[in-house]
Amino acid sequence: MELKMLLEKKIPPSVDAIGVLLTKGQELDFSNSVSEIIDSLREKEQFVGDAKEVLVTYIKDEDEYRKLILVGLGESEKLNTEKVRMAVGRLFNKAKKLKAKELYIASTLEGLTGDLKPEALIAESILLANYKFDKYLSKKDESKLEVVNFVGQDEAACEEGTALAEATNIARELTATPSNDLTPVILADFAKEKAKEYGFDIDIFDEKKIQKLGMEAFWQVAKGSDNPPRFIVMRHMGDKKNKDDITALVGKGLTYDSGGLSLKTSDGMSTMKTDMGGSAAVIGAMCAISKQKLNTNVVAIVAACENIPSARSYHPGDIIGSMSGKTIHVKNTDAEGRLTLADAVYYAVKEEKASRVLDIATLTGACIAALGQRVTGVLANDEDFYQRLENASKLSDEMMWRLPMFDHFKEAYKHPEADLNNTGEGGAGTITGGMFVGEFVEDTPWLHLDIAGKSYTSKDLEYIGKGPTGVGVRSLYYLAKSYE
Ligand code: BES
Ligand code: ZN
Ligand code: ZN
Repeated sequence: MELKMLLEKKIPPSVDAIGVLLTKGQELDFSNSVSEIIDSLREKEQFVGDAKEVLVTYIKDEDEYRKLILVGLGESEKLNTEKVRMAVGRLFNKAKKLKAKELYIASTLEGLTGDLKPEALIAESILLANYKFDKYLSKKDESKLEVVNFVGQDEAACEEGTALAEATNIARELTATPSNDLTPVILADFAKEKAKEYGFDIDIFDEKKIQKLGMEAFWQVAKGSDNPPRFIVMRHMGDKKNKDDITALVGKGLTYDSGGLSLKTSDGMSTMKTDMGGSAAVIGAMCAISKQKLNTNVVAIVAACENIPSARSYHPGDIIGSMSGKTIHVKNTDAEGRLTLADAVYYAVKEEKASRVLDIATLTGACIAALGQRVTGVLANDEDFYQRLENASKLSDEMMWRLPMFDHFKEAYKHPEADLNNTGEGGAGTITGGMFVGEFVEDTPWLHLDIAGKSYTSKDLEYIGKGPTGVGVRSLYYLAKSYE
């Protein structure tokens, strides 16, 4: 599909569907014939512009019928960026369903508040709505909407929205790709390809280097599988003048999590190809950060491996080491993410000299119990870093909620025979799991994002259809941008 930003309000003759986004009672500055239809529909209260309202009619123009799709935005005083994305998604899906070939979007987004330009929002939501994970379908959806036109002037905003959607779709594709086609080596090769395409630097460490660097916690998780692990380090040094100021983005990269010897149930395992959603988010974010040439330094890190039971697997009851030197008692081999992250965040601080570290991970089922399938759980040890994330999430409209880090939670992961225990007791699993990772960043400003259950949606979210969401990409991008 091609997205075209037109500088003038003129409908190209090839357009066969016109979409109008309207707030309640909005006066239209549009072609007379369309305005007339809308006025008469309003008079009869057949279309008022309520949020979620969609009406399809037809308009005759020079002997040709064009589809006219009206989508409500609700009251203009209550219009916000997410409502616009949803309405654009709704319009796009309707046009597709009607088998339109070329769509023209008319909207003025009267009353829109927030820091995002309409051009960025429309580009982003159209390209997100257009994504479908269909590479395994022999018969792909034929109803191709080939061109979407919208009117706008701000090229830079359109480019940013486009870059963000493209990067999010990269993360979605990675997340949905099953583990038979996405091993740690394939993930690393993919990141290498993207590094070339988008222009960031990349280092990839194999299993020998991983062990040589002393990443024992990571290696213990990885060694049970025949598919060897990879440690991926991606760098965008956009601010050469302040090369000591580095934001590290660390993504959990379990290309498959069976639980290991603490084996999951078949049901529990069935979605575990998505246990690399954190790594997809940081790889996607790197693509957008590089493409937009952000004037800041970002290092993204992924400890990619599989958690598989075999004769070589680590055992419940083992006491293992870590790059930091801390020892860890393995109570449950299914709490593997925190072990891989422990070495990855420690590496970020010690070897990459990160000024601050964010980790993003499908870490705990408890996060789904606590916050459901749409809200990311957040831990933070630094107010400024957290505030920047909160601001970033207001731009992306990715919902996040901060959880408390009371001191007593530390008791949960103490062990009499080792420095730490990989599984806590007494509930609050999202907090204790996250705080375990935090033990390895020492005093560095740190944020932890638990996206378990958020990397896939079973519900159609209008501009993000059922399936992989690419959660985190847009927020991480805006967070990095806040350091420009
Ligand atoms: N990858 C899972 C967490 C998860 C669960 C993600 C469901 C998405 C959906 C993680 O490695 C895990 O298994 N965590 C355990 C931790 C427990 C053993 C302390 C969990 O949540 O049950
Ligand atoms: Zn697990
Ligand atoms: Zn896991």
